[in-house]
Amino acid sequence: MFEIVENSIIAPNVHRLIIKAPRVAKSRKPGQFVIVHEEGGERIPLTIADENIENGTITLIIQAVGEGTKQIVSKQAGEFIRDIAGPLGKASEIEKVGKVVCIGGGVGTAVLFPLAKALAAAGNDLTTIIGGRSESFVILKDELAVFSTQLKITTEDGSLGDKGFVTGPLAEILEDETRRPEIIYAIGPVPMMAAICEQTRPYGVKTIVSLNPIMVDGTGMCGGCRVTVANKVKFACVDGPEFDGHEVDFKELAARQRQYVGHDHDRHKCRMD
Ligand code: FES
Repeated sequence: MFEIVENSIIAPNVHRLIIKAPRVAKSRKPGQFVIVHEEGGERIPLTIADENIENGTITLIIQAVGEGTKQIVSKQAGEFIRDIAGPLGKASEIEKVGKVVCIGGGVGTAVLFPLAKALAAAGNDLTTIIGGRSESFVILKDELAVFSTQLKITTEDGSLGDKGFVTGPLAEILEDETRRPEIIYAIGPVPMMAAICEQTRPYGVKTIVSLNPIMVDGTGMCGGCRVTVANKVKFACVDGPEFDGHEVDFKELAARQRQYVGHDHDRHKCRMD
């Protein structure tokens, strides 16, 4: 049993849960996730947004989209989650490379956060671009501002930052040779990640994405999280979730996700479209 220490709302339907899980807190690395499971409910994969080893806690940012996630976010501090398995997935490769751009869309920003933090700690010059539908859907801006050299915000309705999409500020950076980064990380809805990969491809800038296919067991056994990367079958839960975005078959990924539209499920890593 894992005790909830704090439950706060950070955007519409998006909760930040701080949970006692000392073993996971100690061993997790940026990019990894856990699978949360309540009795009789679905197994829900969630990226570990942060940890506090001293307090033995992990932070999960959860968008309540289905019955399982709604059940979890309805719990208050002092209540317990039945099962948290992890850390799972491959850790991000963190190196000092120079200029790095990290891009987060909607709840994808929660997945981006630990990665951006580790890249900054490794000494990279970090530009962060985050976006959402409107101001209330932009999360973690203050936390990211602490270690980003530059933070750009976009909203579709212009209520915060530039009006438009994250691809706008990215286009300016790519066009300027002096600002062009060595590597870009993009995490958000599939159409956003696909668009960014097409944007960076002509410049030859390596672009890493974190994929969010349907997951069931999280151990490579069920095949639910199958994706095609460089024309090979990969399982996001054990081979990823991070992949070279220029090699990902986004059309197939989007088609597989469309199969579940209208279903009340939580078995994908939660992202806000
Ligand atoms: Fe079952 Fe990845 S979740 S193979």
